[in-house]
Amino acid sequence: MSKKKSITSQAFTIRYLRRSRELYRRYLETKPWINQLYTTFLGLKPSMTIVDVGCGTGDFTRFLAELIHGKCRIVGVDTRAASLKTAVSETRRARLTGKISYREGDAYNIPIENDFADLTCCRTLLMHLPDPVRAVKEMTRVTKIGGMVATVERGQLPSYYDPDDENFAQLIRKLGDSYVEGVRKLEGKDLVIGNRLPSILRKAGLSDIRAEIQADAWLLSDSRRKVEDVKAQLQFELMNLRENKKVDRKAMLAGGANGEQIDQFYRKYESKTRELLTDSEKLKHNTAFDVGGLYLVTGRKV
Ligand SMILES: C[S@@+](CC[C@H](N)C(=O)[O-])C[C@H]1O[C@@H](n2cnc3c(N)ncnc32)[C@H](O)[C@@H]1O
Repeated sequence: MSKKKSITSQAFTIRYLRRSRELYRRYLETKPWINQLYTTFLGLKPSMTIVDVGCGTGDFTRFLAELIHGKCRIVGVDTRAASLKTAVSETRRARLTGKISYREGDAYNIPIENDFADLTCCRTLLMHLPDPVRAVKEMTRVTKIGGMVATVERGQLPSYYDPDDENFAQLIRKLGDSYVEGVRKLEGKDLVIGNRLPSILRKAGLSDIRAEIQADAWLLSDSRRKVEDVKAQLQFELMNLRENKKVDRKAMLAGGANGEQIDQFYRKYESKTRELLTDSEKLKHNTAFDVGGLYLVTGRKV
């Protein structure tokens, strides 16, 4: 019975992850300049050889492959065999097997020879590593002389504003900071490592350091998005919030928040989200503004 239930819930999660991947893809479609940002800033062009370290299920790997109109060779590397299995099947579904292959391996010991890639990149990997400089040095080793190392991570950009509930907006900002601080204390991870990327790349011996930001503006009433997509996003976020409540709470407490603030946050978040999901008029006129995004920092191997 419990086995059956867990298989069902696993299938549910996989369906949901696929859905959220598709939602983010459609969100990006409304912002073609993001594709241009990556193409120009990372110098993407046909015939390139690319290594994507910490590729996970290959979302970023496939994003890069789709931006290159023509042949290219991309190798995705990750320590998690289960993620690589999904990466392989999703790459087959996207008909990108001619461009992408995957290998199991560690960021500190990439299973690729010296001077292999024109571009070695990673997205949301360094925030998990206790020694990011060591990983960037290893990424540099597999990059050709004159080639580029590109790192993409979250930084201190996120901000939230709710014109109808300034206290809630303040609470979100406070708990966001506590969460980052708590994860730093409990797990030694820097979730906002983006701000440190230029110094990390410099320490790893790279030259010509450059930086850009991919800014994501989340305005639920933005008319470029379909209402069904926005609702599906809210449902996904609600599910994630419920699933991670216990761990997230632990991190926020460790980062200095108190139990009362956390309870208040969950109560308000859940009731506000439920209201938006059931009242389309409220959703259409909602002007709360959530800003996020990714820091892109590159360096050259000389
Ligand atoms: C947040 S996910 C990012 C996945 C992917 N880069 C993306 O942007 O969709 C972080 C990934 O880093 C991988 N990872 C963590 N530590 C690693 C290590 N030491 N070597 C290689 N991969 C690692 C995890 O298995 C996970 O797939």
